[in-house]
Parts: sequence; structure tokens; C-alpha cells
Amino acid sequence: MTGRVEGRVCVVTGAAQGIGATYAKALATEGAKLVISDIDDGTAVADEIKASGGEAIALQNDVSHWQSCQEMAAGALKAFGRIDVLINNAAIFGKLERASIEEISPELFDRVLKVNVGGTFLCTKAVLPAMKKQGYGKIINISTSRIFAGLPFYTHYDASKGAVFGMTRAMAKELGDHGIRVNAIAPGSTMSENVKARTDWRDGGPAAKLAGRSLKRLQDPEDLIGACLYLASAESDFTTGQTLVIDGGGAMW
Ligand SMILES: NC(=O)c1ccc[n+]([C@@H]2O[C@H](COP(=O)([O-])OP(=O)(O)OC[C@H]3O[C@@H](n4cnc5c(N)ncnc54)[C@H](O)[C@@H]3O)[C@@H](O)[C@H]2O)c1
Repeated sequence: MTGRVEGRVCVVTGAAQGIGATYAKALATEGAKLVISDIDDGTAVADEIKASGGEAIALQNDVSHWQSCQEMAAGALKAFGRIDVLINNAAIFGKLERASIEEISPELFDRVLKVNVGGTFLCTKAVLPAMKKQGYGKIINISTSRIFAGLPFYTHYDASKGAVFGMTRAMAKELGDHGIRVNAIAPGSTMSENVKARTDWRDGGPAAKLAGRSLKRLQDPEDLIGACLYLASAESDFTTGQTLVIDGGGAMW
């Protein structure tokens, strides 16, 4: 029996832990070859995949630096010869404090946009030569359902993820003729390791979100696997420019 992404080479940024690691392991279970990219060391995730019989390498990259993104693409090609899927998951998020507009410094605002928006742009730019040569590729950007809900104390972060939403549409229109599909996942508040460790909630935290959800339970990283596999596989080959909100029916647009 073959997996849903059998033999596909998937690059997942920010995959050393958290939701990125969940995406990577799920893709490997369905037959993909994984590039675990992160500014931190992702060797443990790659080793876990290999121990389960999969193929994976770990690369240390900073998505906000162009040369590092080019090294990421080159490393993936050296190891596996092609790049089928890029998941732009790396972001300044889990350790970013809730803050009012007055509390957010101009420098921090710039840094969040540089990593979350600039990183998505640079990683996509880096894999395009390979995807264009193949005439096929899947880019999955990561936004957030917050941008549809309208929530306070994260203006820098929400600005960055709103840009990712817009960029997904622009990229899809530009790259369709090359067989490259660009879609986004917009998760709700999800209990990744860093979210569980948070103490700076100013809006009641994840439990406060349940009242607004159609499906009233906390969201786990595993809730995002279905959307990830759908968008990475051939099942979504006629889908592009779309943003899938996965938040238990909270934000609707
Ligand atoms: N957990 C949630 O509630 C939630 C909700 C909506 C969207 N998201 C998005 O999902 C993604 C993953 O969420 P998470 O909870 O695992 O976040 P997280 O903060 O725990 O993980 C982010 C990962 O990105 C890496 N990273 C940060 N800066 C980087 C850089 N410059 N270069 C390369 N890697 C870098 C980090 O090392 C980390 O491993 C993020 O894009 C986040 O914005 C999360």
C-alpha cells in the first residue's frame, strides 16, 4: 500500500518541534521524504522519522536570511534531488509575548514581519527554481484564524499572518502556469508545546475560545494533519490560492 504523499520531498520550516514537527512526522508516515529545517537543531525529529523507517535530514536555517534559505533549498536537492512540497511554518510565535500597540517597539514589529512574512517569501523564492523545473510543486503557507476573528494584543503577529494570507493569493495566481499550487492553513489557538507553556494570556487563553467554537474542545497539533496531508498530496491538485481555517468552527469567512 502506498502513502498519500509517497516519495514526495517535503521541506518543513520551523520543524524542530511544535506543530512543524507534527506536520513532518505525519508526512513521513504517509511516505514522504522530509527536510526538517529550523533555526534550532531538528536532528531529534529527523532521527525519530528515520527510526520509524522513514527518510529525513535536518538542516539549520534562518528563514529571514536569503543565503540561509538558498542553502536550505540546495541541501534538500543534494539529499533528495527534488522539492515537491514546502511548508512555510517557521514563525516568531510561541515565545512572542502578548502586548498592546503602545508596548510593541518599532524594532519588534519589524522583526516579526521580517521572519513571518519575509521568511515565507524567501523560502518560497528559494524553492521556485526546482519547482518550476519540475513543472509541479505545492507551497503551504501558515496563517492563523485570528486574522478572521479580530483579536487584541497581537498586532505585530496578526499583521504578519494577514500578509501571509494575501501573499498566498498573489503567489497562487503568479505560479499556476508553472504547476505550482499555493494554499494556506489558518489554525485556531492550538496546544503546541510553546502555547501550553504560556503564562501571558490577556484574553483568558485557549479555554476562553471554546465558547466561540462550534466544536467545543481544545485544539491539538494533530487536528491540523488532515489539512496538511490534503494540501501536500495530489488530492488538492485543482485547489490553489485557498486558506483553510481549521479551528473547530470558530472563525467563518
Ligand atoms: N499554536 C497555535 O496556536 C497557532 C495558531 C495559529 C497559527 N500558528 C502558526 O503555526 C506555526 C507553528 O506554531 P507553533 O505553535 O508550533 O509555534 P512555535 O513558536 O512553537 O514554533 C515555531 C518554530 O519556528 C522556528 N523559527 C522561529 N524563527 C525562525 C527563523 N528565523 N528561522 C527558522 N526557524 C525559525 C522556531 O525555532 C520554532 O521551532 C507558526 O507559523 C504559528 O504562527 C500557531
